[in-house]
Amino acid sequence: MAGNRTFTMIKPDGVRAGNIGNILQMINEAGFRIVAMKLTKLSMERAGQFYEVHKERPFYGELCEFMSSGPIVAAILEKENAVEDFRALIGATNPANAAPGTIRAKYATSTGENAVHGSDSDENAAIEGAFHFAGVENF
Ligand code: CMP
Repeated sequence: MAGNRTFTMIKPDGVRAGNIGNILQMINEAGFRIVAMKLTKLSMERAGQFYEVHKERPFYGELCEFMSSGPIVAAILEKENAVEDFRALIGATNPANAAPGTIRAKYATSTGENAVHGSDSDENAAIEGAFHFAGVENF
């Protein structure tokens, strides 16, 4: 059965461009409830841990540099079928392929600097949420 929670980050490019409010509004209007949220910053080491699954990819170093380049907004979101519905809301990884009206179509500038992250499975949503939030920070 599809799970009801996903994990997201508004990435450093989205924060730098002043799009926190615009992106959160789209998330709210799509029917997601915020379970946990914070403005925070990943160190190089923490970014490396978060994206460890991509360690062998050629873009791993660039990805970690970028994700630790400034503040992010981390959040756990709740909705029926959360992972799939959130990935539909954010659009394709490469904004050139993102459907019109999606968050990445509106606010991402490249595959690397693509404004938001969304978990790709229920299992990873739980792992990624726990990476950023203690149980008592979930409401
Ligand atoms: P995200 O959904 O956060 O998960 C992994 C990230 O790696 C992805 O978004 C992109 O930001 C980044 N990424 C994927 N492919 C590339 C690429 N070819 N070049 C640079 N970054 C990439």
